[in-house]
Order: sequence, then structure tokens, then C-alpha cells
Amino acid sequence: MIRVKTLQQTPNKFTVSAPSNIAFVKYWGKYGRQLPINPSVSMTLKNCVTMCEISYTTSDNLSGFELERYEFMGEENPKFYERFNNYLVSILDVLPGLSKFKISISSTNTFPHSAGIASSASAFSALAYGVACLASDFEKDSKEFLDQCSELARLGSGSAARSILGPYMQWGEDPFIENSTNNCARIVQEVHPEFLELKDTILLVDKKEKSVSSSAGHSLMHGHPFKENRIVQARENTRNILQAIKAGDWNLFGEILENEALTLHALMMSSYPSFILLKPNSLEIIERVKAFRVRTNISLYFTIDAGPNIHLIYKNEDAGVIEKFVKDDLAQLCHEGSYIIDEIGIGAGVVDGK
Ligand code: DP6
Repeated sequence: MIRVKTLQQTPNKFTVSAPSNIAFVKYWGKYGRQLPINPSVSMTLKNCVTMCEISYTTSDNLSGFELERYEFMGEENPKFYERFNNYLVSILDVLPGLSKFKISISSTNTFPHSAGIASSASAFSALAYGVACLASDFEKDSKEFLDQCSELARLGSGSAARSILGPYMQWGEDPFIENSTNNCARIVQEVHPEFLELKDTILLVDKKEKSVSSSAGHSLMHGHPFKENRIVQARENTRNILQAIKAGDWNLFGEILENEALTLHALMMSSYPSFILLKPNSLEIIERVKAFRVRTNISLYFTIDAGPNIHLIYKNEDAGVIEKFVKDDLAQLCHEGSYIIDEIGIGAGVVDGK
């Protein structure tokens, strides 16, 4: 006799939290199914997170997966519903166990969305981790499980692959980097103790929607006149920044960090069509950060994602003087004086219920 389980009437639920991450070596350009054209390295954040509550019902005789409802910040959001529904349906070949679930999602962010802070990274890593908790065949938090979470996150948004774990993640294959793969991001194993207490203050120069989506941005790399050189440069920068993180070489680290940020924007400015995402205040902040460094001899460096906001990276031991500089000087260049103080984090996890 075939036993058929009935659909559970009361949905079960649990909540996953996943952070954003800030790329030190930038992923820019992709091919195939969300595969990067170059390796990247990032630091996982702690305070900029997506909280994703997943309610689910299940049955062995369900005809297929269904996303019943999607709420963002307490409201139904048809645009996001469509994006996440398409995503969840698209990953069923990687996570076939999901087919027997009906789920509803309620998601909240602790930071403004589409402002150059990687909201897609935290959103997709939270969701990927959540659905893997529901339907993965691997033991939760085993190496295979975490690789699968990162792979699933990547399929939603490339940079999300790097938000599953922390404090540092490397994604994208390189013959000189052991264990590197395009499939998923993995933890950077060798980290100097000084690099375990970094902070990232995000200066919100402009909170408006970006004028180019990351996906449109990535496609600009196809046929870009500097594409081949960019790949070579990103590989070198990846190897060197990993060396700097391992050895505690703050000068080398800072040099690569700023080179990567400016290269990303230079690539956008020199593509067809071109994009200028930096604002006058972004440039003014960069000038003031450089002058501060010369004046104080304190290691304060900047990086930038695909937007106008400036991320300041520094050691926790310098936080007092740097955060005073931000408050007294740089904040006036930010939109309504706003900035977010974040720090190094460890990735995604269930915070409640499973
Ligand atoms: C500039 O991960 O947002 O932040 O894969 O199309 O979702 P999709 O792109 P996304 O790209 C992020 C690009 C970046 C650099 C980085 O995070 O490495």
C-alpha cells in the first residue's frame, strides 16, 4: 500500500538571517549560469542583514513547489514576488527536494535597498540558506551543505555566494588558489589576527535607486576593450590580497582595495554605454580620506561598490579617531548626514525556529 501524507494544516516557520558583504576584489562580468569571469574576495558584514521568515507546508503528494506569498518590509511586493518566485523555480534542479513545499516569505532589511549596499547579496543568501535548511540532502552546516547554500545563493545573485560564511570569502577559480571554484564561495582559511577585527563604515552619499543594475553592469564586460586585462588584474589582486590578509600587510591590502574600487568605476566609465555612478561628494570623500591618511598616518582605506556610497575599511583599534572624523567631517557629505557603522561578520544562520 502506498502511504500518502496529507498536507500539514498549520504552517511551520523559521527565520534566517544573512548579511551583506563588501567585495575587496570585485566580481564584475559573468557568463553561463551566474559564473564569474574573474575571482573575487570579500569581507562578510554583521549589521547589514536580511531577516527572512519562511513559513512552509509540505506533503509527499504535492504537485510541485509553490511560493504562496512574498512580503518585503511588511508589505506584499509583486516585483520582488516575481523575482524570487522565478529564482526558486529555477533552482529546483539543484534542490529537487524543494518541490514538495509550499512556502511564504516575509523579508526585512536593516539597511536601504538598491543603494550600493549589496541588498541582493543578503536577500539571496538568506533565502538560499533557508530553502537549503528545508530541502537539502546534506547534513545542515556540513561542508557540502555550505557549498550548496553558496551555490544556490550564487544562482540568485553572484555576490550572494559570498554571504553564507565569513569573515572572508573567496569566490571564482584561479589555478594558484587551492580549493577555488566558480561554483561557490569558500572561506579564506589563513587570516592574520589583525584582520579579524575590521570595521566598515558605509557613507550613504545617495540613497536613490542605482542608475544601472548590477546585471546590466556585468553585461557591459562582454566586448569591453579592457576585459582581458581586467581578468589578469583581478587574478593578481586576488592572490595578493589573500597574501596581505594572511601576512597582516595593511599597506598592500589598502593599495589593492582602492585599486579595485577605482578600477570597477573606471570599467563602467569606459564601457559602451558608459555609466558614472560616483557623485561629486563621493570624490570629495575620497580626497579627504587620502588627506586624513597622510595627516594621521592611520590606515584608513576606501572601497566602493556599483554605486556612489563609500565604504571605509579600518581596524577596530582605530575606530575612535576614525568614527570621530566621520561624524565631524565626512557626514556632512552624506545624504542627510547618514552613514552605517558595520563590522566583520560570520555569515548566515537560523535565528529562530529550526
Ligand atoms: C560591484 O552580485 O549584484 O558589487 O550576479 O547580477 O546579481 P548579479 O550581480 P551582483 O554584482 C555585484 C557586483 C559588485 C562587486 C562584488 O560584489 O563583487
